[in-house]
Amino acid sequence: MNKKKIMSIFGTRPEAIKMAPVVKELEKSPEFESIVVITAQQREMLDQVLSVFKIKPDYDLDIMLPNQTLSQITSRVLEKLDPILAEERPDIILVHGDTTTSFVASLGAFYHQISIGHVEAGLRTWDKYAPYPEEMNRQMTDCLSDLYFAPTELSKKNLLASNIDEAKIIVTGNTVVDALSETTLHGFTHPVTKELKKDSKKILLTCHRRENFGEPMRNIFKAVVDMVETYEDIEVIYPVHPNPNVKKLAEEMFEKQERIHLVEPMDVIDFHNCMKESYFIMSDSGGIQEEAPSLGKPVLVLRDVTERPEGLETGILKLVGTNTQTILNAVKDLMEDTRYYKSLSTKGNPYGDGLASKRIAKALKEYGNK
Ligand code: UD1
Ligand code: UDP
Repeated sequence: MNKKKIMSIFGTRPEAIKMAPVVKELEKSPEFESIVVITAQQREMLDQVLSVFKIKPDYDLDIMLPNQTLSQITSRVLEKLDPILAEERPDIILVHGDTTTSFVASLGAFYHQISIGHVEAGLRTWDKYAPYPEEMNRQMTDCLSDLYFAPTELSKKNLLASNIDEAKIIVTGNTVVDALSETTLHGFTHPVTKELKKDSKKILLTCHRRENFGEPMRNIFKAVVDMVETYEDIEVIYPVHPNPNVKKLAEEMFEKQERIHLVEPMDVIDFHNCMKESYFIMSDSGGIQEEAPSLGKPVLVLRDVTERPEGLETGILKLVGTNTQTILNAVKDLMEDTRYYKSLSTKGNPYGDGLASKRIAKALKEYGNK
């Protein structure tokens, strides 16, 4: 039997977490030859995920530079991927989401006239600079793709609005929900637990978006400091993103705060289980917005717009932006209005049902058979 050669290309932590269930599904089937290429746009954070899911890449482009620019990622990925695409000539490549790795890998495949499958296709804010550069990364990837794995009906609608042929779109659910079913089987055993007061409420914080660098991030961190000063029974756990723009400010603003615990990025098992134990989450992350509903945890989304509005409708996500007072008002609601808090936790996950990677594998089996 002629196997279909599927090359999955990814480079950052969230892509790896969300592509791991797909890679595992492809590996299970005798109909596929699965090849994994990592750009290592992120080094340590990506390696953490590969180790948790036991994925051994076939190619490692190893392109990360400290404080890298978008142009450096773009040129280095394009150049190093080129000979691999020429040599392997897969039947289709798979990319994920909206990172610069995803866009550039699609561009590289297009130059070789190789088909492209976009996992997590169709998310939109329709705002060129929010999030930056992700909104244009995903629009450009969608522009180049041949097969679209849209996580929700809304993302399908966005693709149709971009003039994509409906026959090329499959609504699959988000693969992160598939990943969660494995990671949350464990407990939260991270060393930071020893530093936390018994019976305190744990608030989990993450923050890394490029458009939040500088003043917006300073305003967010100021809200976190005020929050800790207002409520004596809370402790903040903050796995700090290694980007120097984030790390420096976090250390400067939280240095003297005993109840704000800065830790290294957690591996995904620790992180998901930390989410599970949190009272609520504050984050500008994309993936965390999709995971929290499965765990019934409210998220204050530290952004002005989101491409994941489905969770806003159920109330589990609340868009609070980066204004200090607006964030504090939302914290007050969660801390002081118990009835409101309880009403948020039981509404299910609008982003997926845990079967997305199976649907993707099925569509890939059928792709190009006619
Ligand atoms: C990237 C993605 C963003 C995604 C995020 C997930 C782009 C343009 N941005 O942003 O969409 O939400 O990843 O985390 O694709 N660093 C390390 N070690 C690591 C990772 C990062 O030291 O393991 C430092 C390096 O100095 C690196 C910098 O962080 O240059 C920025 O990393 P990069 O992947 O370019 O940008 P992110 O802001 O993480
Ligand atoms: N995550 C993790 N360890 C951490 C912080 C986050 O494993 O210390 C996971 C989180 O559960 C989610 C993903 O990383 O699956 C989100 O990554 P990130 O916020 O870096 O990127 P985004 O989703 O915003 O693109």
